[in-house]
Amino acid sequence: MIKKTVESAINEQIKREEFSSRLYLSMAIWCESNGYPGAAAFLYRQADEERMHQLKLVHYVNDRGGKAALMALTSPESHFDNLSHVFKQVMEHEQYITASINDLYEVTLNEKDYTTGSFLQWYINEQIEEESTMATILDKINLVGTEKGGMFHLDKELGAMAAAAPAPSATA
Ligand code: FEO
Repeated sequence: MIKKTVESAINEQIKREEFSSRLYLSMAIWCESNGYPGAAAFLYRQADEERMHQLKLVHYVNDRGGKAALMALTSPESHFDNLSHVFKQVMEHEQYITASINDLYEVTLNEKDYTTGSFLQWYINEQIEEESTMATILDKINLVGTEKGGMFHLDKELGAMAAAAPAPSATA
């Protein structure tokens, strides 16, 4: 049976992952309505990924005899200056999520809940991967600058990344 302190800390993370999904959905909508279909596809896929991160935590809490809870969310940002602004915000948000996963991991250590700590390793690794992907995209955006042809190709590349990504699964 999961301890109440761990359960409520996971429920806070469930909220953050749900917000992440809505934030990336909002960014995808901006991209789609501002001429970046590839970036939109990439961010729609990211929104699905975050929903999967949320769901994986929901199943975990319930499987351990706790109860997952949903909380009220604020509206995500919906106005962005340009594509660079969008991905800088993604990077900042992912860094915030990494810090929150680390805090959650610390709760499990303090509570000597090593099972949950082990479960969270998946999230720790996922954050390394996501921050690395976003850093690569930001490098490319900086390289292209405001050059329209370069931006067109970058958008196509983001679309190809979205198409090649495996479908998110909460049981993976
Ligand atoms: Fe689920 Fe990218 O944080």
